[in-house]
Amino acid sequence: MNVGDRHYRTIWLSDDGRSVEIIDQRWLPHDFRVEKVGTVAGIATAIRDMWVRGAPLIGVTAAYGVAMQMAKDASDAALDGAWEILHETRPTAINLRWALDEMRGFLRPLPSGQRAEAAYRRAGEIADEDVGLNRAIGVNGLEIIKEIAARKRPGEPVNILTHCNAGWLATVDYGTATAPIYLATEAGIPVHVYVDETRPRNQGAQLTAWEMAGHGVPHTLIVDNAGGHLMQRGQIDMVIVGTDRTTADGDVCNKIGTYLKALAAADNDVPFYVALPSPTIDWTVGDGLAEIPIEQRSSDEVSLVWGKTASGEIAQVRISPETTPAANPAFDVTPARLVTGLITERGVARASRDGLKAMFPGR
Ligand code: MRU
Repeated sequence: MNVGDRHYRTIWLSDDGRSVEIIDQRWLPHDFRVEKVGTVAGIATAIRDMWVRGAPLIGVTAAYGVAMQMAKDASDAALDGAWEILHETRPTAINLRWALDEMRGFLRPLPSGQRAEAAYRRAGEIADEDVGLNRAIGVNGLEIIKEIAARKRPGEPVNILTHCNAGWLATVDYGTATAPIYLATEAGIPVHVYVDETRPRNQGAQLTAWEMAGHGVPHTLIVDNAGGHLMQRGQIDMVIVGTDRTTADGDVCNKIGTYLKALAAADNDVPFYVALPSPTIDWTVGDGLAEIPIEQRSSDEVSLVWGKTASGEIAQVRISPETTPAANPAFDVTPARLVTGLITERGVARASRDGLKAMFPGR
């Protein structure tokens, strides 16, 4: 997507052919910074400390991390070591394991002398594939927006609520939940997006709002607790969120707070859609609540908040007493029964084992 008048992906290979450049998301929306990362340890830090984030982008970044390790040491032990170091960075997003398994499975049969070049090539393909998957999600989700728009008065916008950032910053390009929104905007269908701030890290306020502003999508920032109230008043036509892992039974694990939005949507007959590329489906897991590991992040993310001061400094402030402990589960699980549909690259699936099997036969 564009930043100003220049097109960016969130990650790209550097001119040296060995490092990657990434948009460092920690500084947005106040500062647009690009970082160069050239080692597997650097990639692990960038993922763990959320310079890059969002399930699909984490996977692609990790794939490049494996390639960097192969350029240094292409032995089987180094391949396994890179898999381990990168896998432990973020436990919930399944695209990470998917990309690491994909890289290892592809590289293992090759002679070590061929692994580095092949690894960079495959990582680049995974990045390109992500863009294609998201665009296809956009095309499929656009049909739903069109149906809702057709029931509205001419010119009246389709009001969409989204949580966290499942935008182009969470992927290589387009985003998952945002892809239908961007395509609707391109098609001239009026949409308006309610952006949940998404505590504790405020990915909605900092990232989704920045994306929407950058692409001229009308949007309004709301506190996390406002969604239910807006739904009761008929101000939300649909919810679209992303996901970090969706189970074979259709349970959806996503940023903490998603479940509450799904409950409010069900109580108010607001359709609740989840947009996802197939690498986000964990076919080995059925019951999301019982089986998905939930990342527990630092309590500092709850007690301290980043922002820009009146003097223009990007700074952190404490919002709770020094001695008050804070808990920070980063994700929750929305049961399949609360999900209206899963918008995938192949079409909109029912959130159930049968629905996913019908969309992805053979899995
Ligand atoms: O912890 P993050 O910022 O990496 O989490 C990302 C999310 O949870 C997003 O909500 C998104 O829906 C999943 S990635 C498309």
